[in-house]
Amino acid sequence: MSSTPFYTPPRWSATFDPHSVAEIHRAAQTGIYDIRGAGAKRKVPHFDDLLFLGASISRYPLEGYREKCGTDVVLGTRFAKKPIQLKIPVTIAGMSFGALSGNAKEALGRGATQMGTSTTTGDGGMTPEERISSKTLVYQLLPSRYGMNPDDLRKADAIEVVVGQGAKPGGGGMLLGQKITERVAKMRTLPVGIDQRSACRHPDWTGPDDLTIKIQELREITDWEKPIYVKVGATRPYFDTALAVKSGADVVVLDGMQGGTAATQDVFIEHVGLPILAAIRPAVQALQDLDMHRKVQLIVSGGIRNGADVAKALALGADAVAIGTAALIALGDNDPHWEDEYKKLGTTAGCYDDWHEGRDPAGITTQDPELAKRLDPVKAGKRLANYLAVLTMETQIIARACGKSHVHNLEPDDLVALTVEAAAMAGVPLAGTNWIPGKSGM
Ligand SMILES: Cc1cc2nc3c(=O)[nH]c(=O)nc-3n(C[C@H](O)[C@H](O)[C@H](O)COP(=O)(O)O)c2cc1C
Repeated sequence: MSSTPFYTPPRWSATFDPHSVAEIHRAAQTGIYDIRGAGAKRKVPHFDDLLFLGASISRYPLEGYREKCGTDVVLGTRFAKKPIQLKIPVTIAGMSFGALSGNAKEALGRGATQMGTSTTTGDGGMTPEERISSKTLVYQLLPSRYGMNPDDLRKADAIEVVVGQGAKPGGGGMLLGQKITERVAKMRTLPVGIDQRSACRHPDWTGPDDLTIKIQELREITDWEKPIYVKVGATRPYFDTALAVKSGADVVVLDGMQGGTAATQDVFIEHVGLPILAAIRPAVQALQDLDMHRKVQLIVSGGIRNGADVAKALALGADAVAIGTAALIALGDNDPHWEDEYKKLGTTAGCYDDWHEGRDPAGITTQDPELAKRLDPVKAGKRLANYLAVLTMETQIIARACGKSHVHNLEPDDLVALTVEAAAMAGVPLAGTNWIPGKSGM
């Protein structure tokens, strides 16, 4: 018999895993909660849990080189005199100047414009750079009113009333003092260098009736020309969509829990709200029940990365998607090229743990003039345009394979789910069965 003692490697608890233990130590040492940007990092049901069936004998595919597959979208057809016409079903989500540098905002406008789509302002108002570089610019009216300016509102092509965001439904955002430079402070009417917490609810309304009045006011200020969007974080998508429609919205924007933010509490990002996969069907159901599907358009966001995600969101009933995180990555954020500098910030390229800090080596989530100079808005805009082109082509590849001559003809029938959870949330059959949990027999 060997006398060598048997070695049992140490075993981590699945509950008290390394991250949880480190967080307890950090909390115990500092007495402050963790603040960060980006969206939920833990795995939740997502578009990856769905597959397209594609065509075979019962469905006839389209030939990519000869047969067209349309990608255009019109937003705001319900009441606005001047609806928004987009060439692709992917828009750029609202991200604030303050969270992002002026160069980054300009690059977003350039990339979106090259591909015929829209970009959106954010908390902190409209910068001249983004207005000039964006052919189609959506102006956000947020609870905080930071940077809110009626003249800018009239300069916009559409208005988005933000009720909530997927990363923090029911909560406000944060902008740490290091990002509040003279320019940001002036635009937001805030003191320089002091942490700012934006409001979690609009100061002048307490319920849906007030939202109706607010939308009416915005229509009058803009002569009924501009589409009015209402953005909500995914929590109670059926009721929120129905109430937004009842309040007079032209477009509903639904943002799931994977959706990025510039900065908020980690506990909020990880534990409040629904994954977008679970939110789209109830929102579409509300629109259908009101006979408003495709009349009030639905934009969805939260973790969209590739053309398959776009196609799945459209197949579930959305008219378009919005991207935040992926757009910043396309501009060059968290590029491994800057790894040494990310390490100095205590993170690594690709983890997106630096957005709130204001020291982004890529010059995107910073107000430091030297760092911001590193981002060339022309080159970064071109990168974003390339990425948007790929997203669009990938969406078309899938739509054609399903036999559709327009990406809006994708439908739930084209999809199956890999897990029971995803089948129940997306309302499509579990792969290999005709079983939709909660709806049909085996
Ligand atoms: C850096 C950053 C700043 C943001 N600022 C705002 C904002 O000012 N207003 C807003 O409604 N949403 C804001 N968002 C959320 C986005 O509009 C959008 O809902 C989200 O990014 C979509 O999810 P995705 O990042 O997974 O694409 C921000 C997101 C990021 C990443």
